[in-house]
Order: sequence, then structure tokens, then C-alpha cells
Amino acid sequence: MRSGLVLLSVCALLLSGFRIKSGEKDYEDFKPHMRAVYSSLLTIFPLTLNTKSFTSKDNTKAIQENLNLIAQHAKEINTLAAKDEKGHAYLSLQLERNARQAALKYKDGFHDQAHFFVEELYDTCLSCHTSRSSSGDSAFTMDLSKNLDMEAMGTFGKAKFLALSRQFDRALDEYERILKSRELSLEELLHFDPLVDYLVLSVRVQGNADRPLKTFNELLKRPLPGPVKHDLESWQKSLKQVKNRPKKMNDLEFARTLIKDVNRDRTGLVNYIFASKYLKDHLKKVNISANDKAETYYQLGICELSIGESLMSGESGMYLEESIRLAPKSPFAKRAYELYEESVTLGYTGSAGINLPPDEKARLDELKKLVF
Ligand code: HEC
Repeated sequence: MRSGLVLLSVCALLLSGFRIKSGEKDYEDFKPHMRAVYSSLLTIFPLTLNTKSFTSKDNTKAIQENLNLIAQHAKEINTLAAKDEKGHAYLSLQLERNARQAALKYKDGFHDQAHFFVEELYDTCLSCHTSRSSSGDSAFTMDLSKNLDMEAMGTFGKAKFLALSRQFDRALDEYERILKSRELSLEELLHFDPLVDYLVLSVRVQGNADRPLKTFNELLKRPLPGPVKHDLESWQKSLKQVKNRPKKMNDLEFARTLIKDVNRDRTGLVNYIFASKYLKDHLKKVNISANDKAETYYQLGICELSIGESLMSGESGMYLEESIRLAPKSPFAKRAYELYEESVTLGYTGSAGINLPPDEKARLDELKKLVF
């Protein structure tokens, strides 16, 4: 009788789509859709590398079918992620939009626009996969991507594709290979800013401070331009600080101490990336109080404003807004509002002044009323 009950509840858990492991949600229910979009992506990826193959009549059928498939699964993924923390929900919405637009524009023969949305789509996969900690690399993509010619993807193309594929170890290997090779010029360092992407992968996704420490130690043995040397030295200090995390602090408490007095510039980057990792881990817990949740979103908003790396975009406003909505009378709500207003206004400021769309204006007014 008892084993029957146990079996029943195991079945119920499996049927409910995800299992709870040590108080956290895991993402088994995402995987069939992820596998499907990845398979389609592998078919179209080589065809999107140049305009000729993307627009060739010979490829039209394969590209259209796979874009349609990606759009269908993206819709399912969005439904699943809508109940998640706000950053995840936001990125899944982006995924759904980009996939839908790519398929529509391609169908209507607007190849340039379709190509734009396909690129945005790749960026969304990458952003989401690098936005939080991972429990391990995907065994599924390892086999599938074997036949893909990754060398044709440009300086950091291969590293990014590996990260998109959740082959995080191999992506880090590739970053390290390029960073340690003598070929990398200062222009490339400044243009691609690979050190930020490298830190996001090692620190946020893998929670590994040792790996970048080792790499930076090696890089610092070489003659480097002043600003790069300065960055690496301050990041070394932060990486060591994180390694000495006090055991008794929970994720939110530790994140708070990491960003309390840190500079909002590149020297504070490691602190912000680590803090964002712990804050997202905190949000994954099932039983956190509403106030803690609001503060976690607030701190995340600050982190994303400061990280602003190429792998990530647009999430900070989402976090700040959620924080305000959850606890408009909290001690941090006013500051959250100011930062939100500042970033929205900046986003719509051009040579002709500020040009806020009516819905943004209405949202600002609404949030302001809640807070003040
Ligand atoms: C909203 C966030 C989000 C977006 C956007 C996203 N993914 Fe994922 N993806 C996940 C999560 C969460 C997992 C599960 C990770 C784990 O193993 O815990 C995952 C897993 C995967 C896996 C591994 C599956 C397996 O069984 O090992 C693949 C492949 C994948 N995603 C491909 C993609 C591709 C391709 C895109 C873009 C077209 C994409 N994903 C966009 C969140 C996202």
C-alpha cells in the first residue's frame, strides 16, 4: 500500500512537468522544446552565415520549415517560462517574438529583416543560457553539433555558439585559447569585450572563481595596455573575495555585501556578476518572502544596469519594475523608481530630445503613483 502511494506521488511529480530538487525548480519540462529548437537551429545555422545561401531558392523550404518549427516551440517555451522569475519570462517572450518575426518576414520574402530576427534569436538563446547558473553541460548537444563547421564562425563565433549550445566548458576553453594566443589585438579586445563574456560564463554560469583567476594570472605575466591590466588586477581581488564567502550567509545576504560599496564601473564587474548569480539562485528557491523577493529583484536591477554586457540586454528595467510592484512602500522602492525612470528615459533620448512612447509614459506614471 505504502509503495503504491509512493509510486503514485512519484508519477504525479513526473506528470506535473518538473521535479523539485533541494527546494529548487528544475527544467525537465523545457527540454523537449529546447531539443527541438536546437535541431532546427542546426539545420538553418550554416545557411544563415551568408546572404547567398540564406536567399537561395534551393534552401527556402528547409529554412521556412525550421523557422516555423522554432516559432511553434518558442510559443510553448514562453508559456512554460511565463510563470518563472521575471528575467526568464522576459527572455522567453523575446524568443517567441524573434522566432515569430523571423518566420513571418522570411515567408513574405523580406530576407534582410528575417536575417535580423534570426540573429536576434541566436542572441536570445545565448542570453538566456548565460543568465543564470547551470547544473552541468548538455550531453544532448555534444553529439549533434559534431559535424558543424565551427571554425567558419569568426573570432568569437565558435565560443559563442558553444555557449549557446550549453557546452560551457568547451566555450571557456575556446575563450582561453584566444585570450592566451598572441594574435588578439587591443582593438579586438575593446571591440568584442570577450573578458566580460568569459567572466559571465565562468562566474555566473559555472560559479567558478578558480578558472578565471588562473587565466588572469597568466595574462598578467605579459605586457598589457594599462586599462586592461588595471581591470584584471581588480577582478583578481574580487575573485579571491568570493572564494572566502562566509558560510552562514544566504544568497541574498552575500549578494548584498558584494555590491554594497563597489564601484559602478568595470572594476566592480566581478562583484556584480557574482551577485547576479546568487540573486538568481535565490529567486529559484520556492519559499522566499515577498519582501525578500522584492529586494532580490531590486538588487538584480542594479546588477544588470552595471554589467550591461553584450550577452544581456533590457532586463534591468524588468527587475526594477517588478521590485516596485512587489513592495512599493519598501525602503528601496524610491531608488528603484529613480533608476527605472533614468534608464527608460535614457533609452528614448536621441538628438531630438526625449521621445517617450505613450505606453512607457503611462507605466512610469503608474509606478510613480505606487511609490510616492
Ligand atoms: C527563457 C530562457 C531560455 C531561452 C530563451 C532558451 N533556452 Fe534553451 N534552455 C533553457 C533552460 C532553463 C534549459 C534547461 C537547462 C538545464 O539543464 O537545467 C535549456 C536547455 C537547452 C538545451 C539542452 C537540452 C538538453 O536536453 O540537454 C538546448 C539544446 C537548448 N536549451 C537550446 C536552446 C536554443 C537553440 C535556444 C534559442 C533558439 C534556446 N535554448 C533558448 C532556457 C532557455
